[in-house]
Amino acid sequence: MRNYVPGPTYREMLDPQTLPAALRAKALAAQSNELDPANLFNISWRGPDNKVRCLALPKQLTGVEANILVLIGRFFPSGSHKVGPAYATLMEAELAGEIEPGVSTTIGPSTGNFGIGVAYISRLKGYPAVVIMPEQMSEERYERIRRYGGRLDLTPGSESDVILVLERTEQYKKDPNNKILAQFELLPNYRFHRYVTGRSALEAAESHGNGRVAAFVAAPGSAGTLAAGDEIKARFPECAVCALEPRECSTLFNNGRGTHRIEGIGDKMVTLIHNVLTTDYVALIHDEDCLLGLDLLERHQAALARFLGLPEGALQCFEGLFGVSGICNILGSIRMARHLQLGLNDNVVTIATDGFDRYPSVLRNLEHRRGPLPESQLGECFEEVFRAWDHREILDLRPREQKDRLFGYKEQVWTAFNYSRSYLAKMQSQSFWDEEFEKVREIDTDLLRTRSGG
Ligand SMILES: Cc1ncc(COP(=O)(O)O)c(C=O)c1O
Repeated sequence: MRNYVPGPTYREMLDPQTLPAALRAKALAAQSNELDPANLFNISWRGPDNKVRCLALPKQLTGVEANILVLIGRFFPSGSHKVGPAYATLMEAELAGEIEPGVSTTIGPSTGNFGIGVAYISRLKGYPAVVIMPEQMSEERYERIRRYGGRLDLTPGSESDVILVLERTEQYKKDPNNKILAQFELLPNYRFHRYVTGRSALEAAESHGNGRVAAFVAAPGSAGTLAAGDEIKARFPECAVCALEPRECSTLFNNGRGTHRIEGIGDKMVTLIHNVLTTDYVALIHDEDCLLGLDLLERHQAALARFLGLPEGALQCFEGLFGVSGICNILGSIRMARHLQLGLNDNVVTIATDGFDRYPSVLRNLEHRRGPLPESQLGECFEEVFRAWDHREILDLRPREQKDRLFGYKEQVWTAFNYSRSYLAKMQSQSFWDEEFEKVREIDTDLLRTRSGG
Protein backbone atom coordinates (compact mmCIF):
# COMPACT_ATOMS: atom_id res chain seq x y z
CA MET A 1 0.00 0.00 0.00
CA ARG A 2 1.78 3.13 -1.23
CA ASN A 3 1.18 6.45 0.61
CA TYR A 4 -0.20 4.70 3.65
CA VAL A 5 1.19 5.73 7.04
CA PRO A 6 1.99 2.46 8.81
CA GLY A 7 0.41 1.43 12.10
CA PRO A 8 0.36 -1.55 14.48
CA THR A 9 -1.28 -4.96 14.24
CA TYR A 10 -3.73 -6.11 16.92
CA ARG A 11 -0.95 -8.23 18.41
CA GLU A 12 1.40 -5.26 18.55
CA MET A 13 -1.28 -3.19 20.30
CA LEU A 14 -1.67 -5.97 22.87
CA ASP A 15 2.07 -6.27 23.31
CA PRO A 16 4.20 -3.46 21.83
CA GLN A 17 7.30 -5.45 22.74
CA THR A 18 6.57 -7.60 19.71
CA LEU A 19 7.38 -4.55 17.53
CA PRO A 20 10.77 -4.47 15.83
CA ALA A 21 13.11 -2.87 18.44
CA ALA A 22 13.89 0.22 16.34
CA LEU A 23 10.18 0.89 15.79
CA ARG A 24 9.39 0.49 19.50
CA ALA A 25 12.19 2.95 20.36
CA LYS A 26 10.93 5.41 17.73
CA ALA A 27 7.39 5.16 19.12
CA LEU A 28 8.50 5.78 22.71
CA ALA A 29 10.57 8.78 21.59
CA ALA A 30 7.50 10.15 19.76
CA GLN A 31 5.54 10.47 23.02
CA SER A 32 6.89 13.99 23.48
CA ASN A 33 5.22 15.08 20.21
CA GLU A 34 1.67 13.77 20.01
CA LEU A 35 1.32 14.58 16.32
CA ASP A 36 4.25 12.36 15.35
CA PRO A 37 2.70 9.42 13.41
CA ALA A 38 5.01 6.99 15.24
CA ASN A 39 2.53 7.42 18.13
CA LEU A 40 0.25 5.01 16.29
CA PHE A 41 2.56 2.35 17.71
CA ASN A 42 1.81 3.58 21.24
CA ILE A 43 -1.85 2.51 21.04
CA SER A 44 -1.81 0.03 23.89
CA TRP A 45 -2.86 -0.48 27.51
CA ARG A 46 0.83 -0.89 28.31
CA GLY A 47 3.29 1.80 29.31
CA PRO A 48 6.97 2.14 28.40
CA ASP A 49 7.77 -0.59 30.98
CA ASN A 50 5.44 -2.88 29.00
CA LYS A 51 3.15 -3.38 32.01
CA VAL A 52 -0.62 -3.00 31.66
CA ARG A 53 -1.58 0.32 33.29
CA CYS A 54 -3.82 -0.75 36.13
CA LEU A 55 -4.71 0.61 39.54
CA ALA A 56 -5.88 -1.58 42.45
CA LEU A 57 -8.25 0.55 44.52
CA PRO A 58 -7.67 0.76 48.29
CA LYS A 59 -10.22 -1.34 50.20
CA GLN A 60 -10.87 1.55 52.59
CA LEU A 61 -12.25 3.35 49.56
CA THR A 62 -14.26 0.50 48.04
CA GLY A 63 -15.52 -1.02 51.31
CA VAL A 64 -15.56 -4.51 49.72
CA GLU A 65 -13.25 -7.50 50.14
CA ALA A 66 -12.73 -8.19 46.44
CA ASN A 67 -9.89 -6.52 44.55
CA ILE A 68 -11.16 -3.80 42.26
CA LEU A 69 -8.71 -3.31 39.41
CA VAL A 70 -9.10 -0.33 37.09
CA LEU A 71 -7.42 -0.34 33.68
CA ILE A 72 -6.28 3.22 32.99
CA GLY A 73 -7.14 4.57 29.53
CA ARG A 74 -5.97 8.17 29.73
CA PHE A 75 -2.39 7.43 28.63
CA PHE A 76 -3.45 6.19 25.22
CA PRO A 77 -2.45 8.69 22.49
CA SER A 78 -5.18 11.39 22.35
CA GLY A 79 -6.10 10.66 25.97
CA SER A 80 -8.59 7.76 25.87
CA HIS A 81 -8.73 4.12 24.83
CA LYS A 82 -11.34 5.02 22.20
CA VAL A 83 -8.41 5.79 19.92
CA GLY A 84 -7.97 2.00 19.68
CA PRO A 85 -11.33 1.29 17.98
CA ALA A 86 -10.86 4.43 15.84
CA TYR A 87 -7.49 3.16 14.63
CA ALA A 88 -8.70 -0.42 14.15
CA THR A 89 -11.68 0.69 12.06
CA LEU A 90 -9.57 2.94 9.86
CA MET A 91 -6.77 0.37 9.55
CA GLU A 92 -9.17 -2.39 8.47
CA ALA A 93 -10.76 -0.05 5.92
CA GLU A 94 -7.32 0.71 4.45
CA LEU A 95 -6.44 -2.98 4.27
CA ALA A 96 -9.72 -3.71 2.51
CA GLY A 97 -8.84 -1.01 -0.05
CA GLU A 98 -11.88 1.06 0.91
CA ILE A 99 -9.99 4.28 1.63
CA GLU A 100 -6.89 6.10 0.53
CA PRO A 101 -5.09 9.19 1.87
CA GLY A 102 -5.60 12.18 -0.41
CA VAL A 103 -8.91 10.77 -1.69
CA SER A 104 -11.08 9.77 1.26
CA THR A 105 -12.55 11.69 4.18
CA THR A 106 -13.24 9.91 7.46
CA ILE A 107 -16.51 10.48 9.31
CA GLY A 108 -16.71 9.78 13.05
CA PRO A 109 -20.20 9.51 14.59
CA SER A 110 -19.54 9.88 18.30
CA THR A 111 -20.29 11.44 21.65
CA GLY A 112 -16.74 12.70 21.90
CA ASN A 113 -13.92 10.32 22.69
CA PHE A 114 -14.32 8.19 19.59
CA GLY A 115 -14.56 11.45 17.61
CA ILE A 116 -11.37 12.69 19.25
CA GLY A 117 -9.78 9.36 18.30
CA VAL A 118 -11.01 9.63 14.70
CA ALA A 119 -9.73 13.22 14.35
CA TYR A 120 -6.39 12.20 15.84
CA ILE A 121 -5.84 9.00 13.83
CA SER A 122 -7.00 10.71 10.64
CA ARG A 123 -4.53 13.53 11.22
CA LEU A 124 -1.67 11.06 11.74
CA LYS A 125 -2.67 8.99 8.73
CA GLY A 126 -3.35 11.91 6.39
CA TYR A 127 -7.16 12.01 6.07
CA PRO A 128 -9.48 14.97 6.61
CA ALA A 129 -12.01 14.07 9.32
CA VAL A 130 -15.56 15.13 10.18
CA VAL A 131 -16.82 14.35 13.68
CA ILE A 132 -20.59 14.21 14.12
CA MET A 133 -21.61 14.57 17.75
CA PRO A 134 -24.24 16.13 20.04
CA GLU A 135 -23.88 19.83 20.82
CA GLN A 136 -24.05 19.51 24.62
CA MET A 137 -20.93 17.50 25.41
CA SER A 138 -18.01 18.84 27.48
CA GLU A 139 -16.21 21.87 26.00
CA GLU A 140 -12.87 20.11 26.29
CA ARG A 141 -13.99 17.48 23.75
CA TYR A 142 -14.70 20.01 20.99
CA GLU A 143 -11.46 21.83 21.70
CA ARG A 144 -9.41 18.66 21.24
CA ILE A 145 -11.15 17.66 18.01
CA ARG A 146 -10.42 21.11 16.58
CA ARG A 147 -6.82 20.91 17.80
CA TYR A 148 -6.37 17.71 15.78
CA GLY A 149 -7.82 19.42 12.71
CA GLY A 150 -11.19 17.62 12.78
CA ARG A 151 -14.30 19.43 11.49
CA LEU A 152 -17.31 19.33 13.83
CA ASP A 153 -20.87 18.70 12.71
CA LEU A 154 -23.06 19.08 15.81
CA THR A 155 -26.51 17.57 16.29
CA PRO A 156 -29.13 18.68 18.84
CA GLY A 157 -29.09 17.37 22.40
CA SER A 158 -26.64 15.49 24.58
CA GLU A 159 -25.27 12.01 25.33
CA SER A 160 -28.54 10.17 25.00
CA ASP A 161 -29.35 11.68 21.60
CA VAL A 162 -26.98 9.47 19.62
CA ILE A 163 -29.77 8.33 17.28
CA LEU A 164 -29.74 11.89 15.86
CA VAL A 165 -26.01 11.50 15.24
CA LEU A 166 -26.67 8.26 13.35
CA GLU A 167 -29.40 9.91 11.29
CA ARG A 168 -27.06 12.79 10.37
CA THR A 169 -24.39 10.23 9.44
CA GLU A 170 -26.73 8.80 6.79
CA GLN A 171 -26.35 12.03 4.80
CA TYR A 172 -22.59 11.54 4.54
CA LYS A 173 -23.05 8.08 3.01
CA LYS A 174 -24.14 9.70 -0.26
CA ASP A 175 -20.55 10.75 -1.08
CA PRO A 176 -18.51 7.66 -2.00
CA ASN A 177 -15.30 9.36 -0.84
CA ASN A 178 -16.60 9.50 2.73
CA LYS A 179 -15.80 6.54 4.94
CA ILE A 180 -18.01 6.23 7.98
CA LEU A 181 -16.00 4.85 10.89
CA ALA A 182 -19.16 3.49 12.44
CA GLN A 183 -18.22 2.51 15.99
CA PHE A 184 -21.74 1.32 16.86
CA GLU A 185 -21.88 -1.00 13.86
CA LEU A 186 -18.46 -2.14 12.72
CA LEU A 187 -16.65 -5.11 14.16
CA PRO A 188 -13.10 -3.71 14.42
CA ASN A 189 -14.42 -2.09 17.62
CA TYR A 190 -15.39 -5.56 18.88
CA ARG A 191 -12.08 -7.06 17.73
CA PHE A 192 -9.95 -4.35 19.36
CA HIS A 193 -11.62 -4.71 22.74
CA ARG A 194 -11.98 -8.47 22.76
CA TYR A 195 -8.37 -9.02 21.74
CA VAL A 196 -6.47 -6.02 23.14
CA THR A 197 -8.56 -4.97 26.16
CA GLY A 198 -9.73 -8.48 27.08
CA ARG A 199 -6.24 -9.96 27.10
CA SER A 200 -4.78 -6.92 28.86
CA ALA A 201 -7.45 -7.27 31.56
CA LEU A 202 -6.59 -10.94 32.00
CA GLU A 203 -2.94 -10.09 32.39
CA ALA A 204 -3.64 -7.29 34.88
CA ALA A 205 -5.59 -9.72 37.09
CA GLU A 206 -2.84 -12.35 37.09
CA SER A 207 -0.92 -10.72 39.93
CA HIS A 208 -3.94 -10.12 42.19
CA GLY A 209 -6.04 -12.42 44.37
CA ASN A 210 -6.52 -15.84 42.77
CA GLY A 211 -5.33 -14.49 39.41
CA ARG A 212 -8.75 -15.05 37.83
CA VAL A 213 -11.47 -12.54 36.91
CA ALA A 214 -14.72 -12.96 38.84
CA ALA A 215 -16.44 -9.97 37.24
CA PHE A 216 -15.84 -7.56 34.38
CA VAL A 217 -17.75 -4.31 34.64
CA ALA A 218 -18.15 -1.65 31.94
CA ALA A 219 -20.71 0.99 31.12
CA PRO A 220 -21.46 0.71 27.39
CA GLY A 221 -21.57 3.53 24.89
CA SER A 222 -20.87 1.65 21.68
CA ALA A 223 -20.44 -1.49 23.87
CA GLY A 224 -17.03 -2.07 22.32
CA THR A 225 -15.37 -2.24 25.74
CA LEU A 226 -17.85 -4.91 26.86
CA ALA A 227 -16.32 -7.21 24.22
CA ALA A 228 -13.37 -7.63 26.59
CA GLY A 229 -15.84 -9.68 28.64
CA ASP A 230 -16.08 -12.23 25.80
CA GLU A 231 -12.36 -12.90 25.96
CA ILE A 232 -12.33 -13.03 29.77
CA LYS A 233 -15.25 -15.50 29.71
CA ALA A 234 -13.44 -17.62 27.13
CA ARG A 235 -10.69 -18.09 29.76
CA PHE A 236 -12.81 -17.95 32.94
CA PRO A 237 -16.38 -18.99 32.07
CA GLU A 238 -17.55 -18.13 35.59
CA CYS A 239 -16.76 -14.42 35.04
CA ALA A 240 -19.87 -12.25 35.39
CA VAL A 241 -19.98 -9.56 32.71
CA CYS A 242 -21.88 -6.55 33.94
CA ALA A 243 -23.06 -3.54 31.93
CA LEU A 244 -23.82 -0.28 33.71
CA GLU A 245 -26.35 2.32 32.74
CA PRO A 246 -27.33 5.71 34.04
CA ARG A 247 -30.42 5.31 36.23
CA GLU A 248 -31.79 8.20 34.14
CA CYS A 249 -31.50 6.23 30.87
CA SER A 250 -32.15 2.55 31.69
CA THR A 251 -32.34 1.10 28.17
CA LEU A 252 -30.84 -2.35 28.74
CA PHE A 253 -32.50 -2.52 32.16
CA ASN A 254 -36.09 -1.91 31.12
CA ASN A 255 -36.15 -0.22 27.69
CA GLY A 256 -36.03 3.16 29.48
CA ARG A 257 -34.93 6.32 27.70
CA GLY A 258 -33.96 9.62 29.27
CA THR A 259 -31.28 12.30 29.42
CA HIS A 260 -28.31 12.03 31.76
CA ARG A 261 -24.89 13.45 32.53
CA ILE A 262 -22.47 10.51 32.14
CA GLU A 263 -20.71 11.42 28.90
CA GLY A 264 -19.77 8.49 26.68
CA ILE A 265 -22.32 5.94 27.90
CA GLY A 266 -26.08 5.36 27.97
CA ASP A 267 -26.92 6.01 24.34
CA LYS A 268 -30.60 4.91 24.38
CA MET A 269 -30.05 1.83 22.23
CA VAL A 270 -28.68 -1.68 22.00
CA THR A 271 -25.76 -1.14 19.66
CA LEU A 272 -25.23 -3.47 16.73
CA ILE A 273 -21.84 -4.66 18.00
CA HIS A 274 -23.12 -5.46 21.49
CA ASN A 275 -22.97 -9.21 22.02
CA VAL A 276 -25.87 -9.37 24.44
CA LEU A 277 -25.42 -13.14 24.81
CA THR A 278 -22.45 -12.63 27.13
CA THR A 279 -23.79 -9.71 29.18
CA ASP A 280 -24.92 -11.28 32.46
CA TYR A 281 -26.11 -8.31 34.51
CA VAL A 282 -27.05 -4.69 34.09
CA ALA A 283 -26.82 -2.25 37.02
CA LEU A 284 -28.09 1.30 37.27
CA ILE A 285 -25.92 4.13 38.56
CA HIS A 286 -27.25 7.59 39.41
CA ASP A 287 -25.51 10.15 37.18
CA GLU A 288 -25.13 12.69 40.00
CA ASP A 289 -23.24 10.08 42.09
CA CYS A 290 -20.64 9.85 39.31
CA LEU A 291 -20.14 13.63 39.27
CA LEU A 292 -19.89 13.78 43.08
CA GLY A 293 -17.54 10.78 43.10
CA LEU A 294 -15.32 12.49 40.53
CA ASP A 295 -15.31 15.66 42.62
CA LEU A 296 -14.29 13.65 45.72
CA LEU A 297 -11.50 11.72 44.02
CA GLU A 298 -10.17 14.58 41.93
CA ARG A 299 -10.50 17.65 44.12
CA HIS A 300 -10.82 16.41 47.71
CA GLN A 301 -8.15 13.70 47.85
CA ALA A 302 -6.44 14.91 51.04
CA ALA A 303 -9.67 15.35 53.03
CA LEU A 304 -11.02 12.03 51.73
CA ALA A 305 -7.80 10.23 52.72
CA ARG A 306 -8.16 11.69 56.24
CA PHE A 307 -11.81 10.59 56.40
CA LEU A 308 -10.90 7.05 55.31
CA GLY A 309 -7.97 6.84 57.73
CA LEU A 310 -5.50 6.49 54.86
CA PRO A 311 -1.99 7.96 55.03
CA GLU A 312 -1.67 11.54 53.84
CA GLY A 313 -1.19 11.57 50.08
CA ALA A 314 -2.49 7.99 49.65
CA LEU A 315 -5.06 9.10 47.06
CA GLN A 316 -2.82 11.56 45.24
CA CYS A 317 -1.95 8.95 42.62
CA PHE A 318 -5.61 9.20 41.46
CA GLU A 319 -5.08 12.71 40.19
CA GLY A 320 -6.15 13.10 36.57
CA LEU A 321 -6.88 9.39 36.06
CA PHE A 322 -10.68 9.37 35.98
CA GLY A 323 -13.52 10.87 34.03
CA VAL A 324 -17.22 10.65 34.88
CA SER A 325 -17.74 7.23 33.28
CA GLY A 326 -14.64 5.90 35.06
CA ILE A 327 -16.30 6.77 38.37
CA CYS A 328 -19.48 5.09 37.13
CA ASN A 329 -17.45 1.95 36.45
CA ILE A 330 -15.85 2.09 39.90
CA LEU A 331 -19.22 2.50 41.64
CA GLY A 332 -20.69 -0.31 39.53
CA SER A 333 -17.76 -2.59 40.39
CA ILE A 334 -18.22 -1.98 44.11
CA ARG A 335 -21.95 -2.71 43.87
CA MET A 336 -21.42 -5.85 41.78
CA ALA A 337 -18.75 -7.12 44.20
CA ARG A 338 -21.35 -6.77 46.98
CA HIS A 339 -24.17 -8.25 44.94
CA LEU A 340 -22.10 -11.27 43.91
CA GLN A 341 -20.70 -11.56 47.47
CA LEU A 342 -17.15 -11.70 46.16
CA GLY A 343 -14.36 -12.38 48.65
CA LEU A 344 -10.72 -11.48 49.29
CA ASN A 345 -9.34 -13.65 46.50
CA ASP A 346 -11.70 -12.43 43.82
CA ASN A 347 -10.86 -9.83 41.20
CA VAL A 348 -13.24 -7.39 39.58
CA VAL A 349 -11.79 -5.67 36.51
CA THR A 350 -13.12 -2.41 35.17
CA ILE A 351 -12.07 0.47 32.93
CA ALA A 352 -11.32 4.18 33.14
CA THR A 353 -11.88 5.16 29.51
CA ASP A 354 -10.45 8.66 29.79
CA GLY A 355 -9.03 11.05 32.39
CA PHE A 356 -9.95 14.30 34.08
CA ASP A 357 -8.58 16.53 31.29
CA ARG A 358 -12.00 16.33 29.57
CA TYR A 359 -14.01 17.32 32.65
CA PRO A 360 -12.88 20.52 34.46
CA SER A 361 -15.84 22.31 32.87
CA VAL A 362 -18.18 19.57 34.10
CA LEU A 363 -17.03 19.98 37.71
CA ARG A 364 -17.31 23.76 37.36
CA ASN A 365 -20.95 23.25 36.37
CA LEU A 366 -21.47 20.92 39.33
CA GLU A 367 -20.11 23.53 41.71
CA HIS A 368 -22.23 26.17 40.07
CA ARG A 369 -25.34 24.06 40.71
CA ARG A 370 -24.56 22.78 44.21
CA GLY A 371 -21.93 25.16 45.63
CA PRO A 372 -18.54 23.94 46.87
CA LEU A 373 -18.46 20.78 49.03
CA PRO A 374 -17.59 21.81 52.63
CA GLU A 375 -15.26 19.38 54.47
CA SER A 376 -17.93 18.95 57.17
CA GLN A 377 -20.20 17.28 54.57
CA LEU A 378 -17.56 15.21 52.84
CA GLY A 379 -18.15 12.07 54.91
CA GLU A 380 -21.88 12.09 54.31
CA CYS A 381 -21.35 12.66 50.59
CA PHE A 382 -18.82 9.81 50.44
CA GLU A 383 -21.19 7.39 52.21
CA GLU A 384 -24.02 8.27 49.87
CA VAL A 385 -21.96 7.86 46.73
CA PHE A 386 -19.62 4.96 47.53
CA ARG A 387 -21.55 2.90 50.07
CA ALA A 388 -25.20 3.11 49.05
CA TRP A 389 -26.63 0.39 46.84
CA ASP A 390 -29.99 -1.06 46.09
CA HIS A 391 -30.15 -4.63 44.79
CA ARG A 392 -33.34 -3.72 42.89
CA GLU A 393 -31.13 -1.68 40.57
CA ILE A 394 -29.25 -4.79 39.45
CA LEU A 395 -30.95 -7.01 36.88
CA ASP A 396 -29.96 -10.55 35.93
CA LEU A 397 -29.84 -10.63 32.14
CA ARG A 398 -29.08 -14.35 31.84
CA PRO A 399 -32.67 -15.62 31.49
CA ARG A 400 -33.74 -16.29 27.91
CA GLU A 401 -36.61 -13.80 28.05
CA GLN A 402 -34.14 -10.99 28.83
CA LYS A 403 -31.97 -11.94 25.86
CA ASP A 404 -35.06 -11.98 23.64
CA ARG A 405 -36.06 -8.54 24.89
CA LEU A 406 -32.61 -7.18 24.02
CA PHE A 407 -32.56 -8.90 20.60
CA GLY A 408 -35.93 -7.32 19.95
CA TYR A 409 -34.68 -3.86 20.91
CA LYS A 410 -31.63 -4.30 18.72
CA GLU A 411 -33.76 -5.33 15.77
CA GLN A 412 -36.02 -2.32 16.22
CA VAL A 413 -33.03 0.08 16.16
CA TRP A 414 -31.01 -1.48 13.37
CA THR A 415 -33.61 -2.54 10.83
CA ALA A 416 -34.40 1.20 10.67
CA PHE A 417 -30.80 1.65 9.49
CA ASN A 418 -31.21 -1.01 6.78
CA TYR A 419 -29.66 -4.03 8.50
CA SER A 420 -31.41 -7.20 7.45
CA ARG A 421 -33.25 -9.47 9.86
CA SER A 422 -31.11 -12.38 8.69
CA TYR A 423 -27.88 -10.55 9.66
CA LEU A 424 -29.37 -9.66 13.04
CA ALA A 425 -30.45 -13.28 13.51
CA LYS A 426 -26.86 -14.46 12.95
CA MET A 427 -25.77 -12.20 15.80
CA GLN A 428 -27.91 -14.27 18.14
CA SER A 429 -25.34 -17.04 18.01
CA GLN A 430 -21.98 -16.98 19.82
CA SER A 431 -20.33 -18.50 16.72
CA PHE A 432 -20.97 -15.20 14.87
CA TRP A 433 -18.82 -13.36 17.44
CA ASP A 434 -16.15 -16.03 17.64
CA GLU A 435 -15.77 -16.05 13.85
CA GLU A 436 -15.48 -12.26 13.77
CA PHE A 437 -12.87 -12.44 16.50
CA GLU A 438 -10.87 -15.12 14.65
CA LYS A 439 -10.32 -12.62 11.82
CA VAL A 440 -7.71 -10.86 13.98
CA ARG A 441 -4.99 -13.31 12.90
CA GLU A 442 -5.70 -12.91 9.18
CA ILE A 443 -5.86 -9.10 9.47
CA ASP A 444 -2.54 -9.00 11.31
CA THR A 445 -0.89 -11.17 8.66
CA ASP A 446 -2.20 -8.90 5.89
CA LEU A 447 -1.05 -5.77 7.69
CA LEU A 448 2.45 -7.12 8.29
CA ARG A 449 2.66 -8.11 4.62
CA THR A 450 1.65 -4.63 3.43
CA ARG A 451 3.99 -2.97 5.93
CA SER A 452 6.90 -4.90 4.48
CA GLY A 453 5.87 -3.79 0.97
CA GLY A 454 4.31 -7.15 -0.02
C1 LIG B 1 -15.90 8.57 28.50
C2 LIG B 1 -16.41 7.31 27.92
N1 LIG B 1 -16.71 6.29 28.75
C3 LIG B 1 -17.20 5.14 28.29
C4 LIG B 1 -17.41 4.94 26.94
C5 LIG B 1 -18.04 3.66 26.48
O1 LIG B 1 -17.12 2.83 25.81
P1 LIG B 1 -17.64 1.88 24.65
O2 LIG B 1 -18.01 2.76 23.50
O3 LIG B 1 -16.47 1.02 24.35
O4 LIG B 1 -18.80 1.15 25.18
C6 LIG B 1 -17.10 5.97 26.04
C7 LIG B 1 -17.33 5.81 24.60
O5 LIG B 1 -17.18 6.72 23.83
C8 LIG B 1 -16.57 7.17 26.54
O6 LIG B 1 -16.27 8.17 25.73
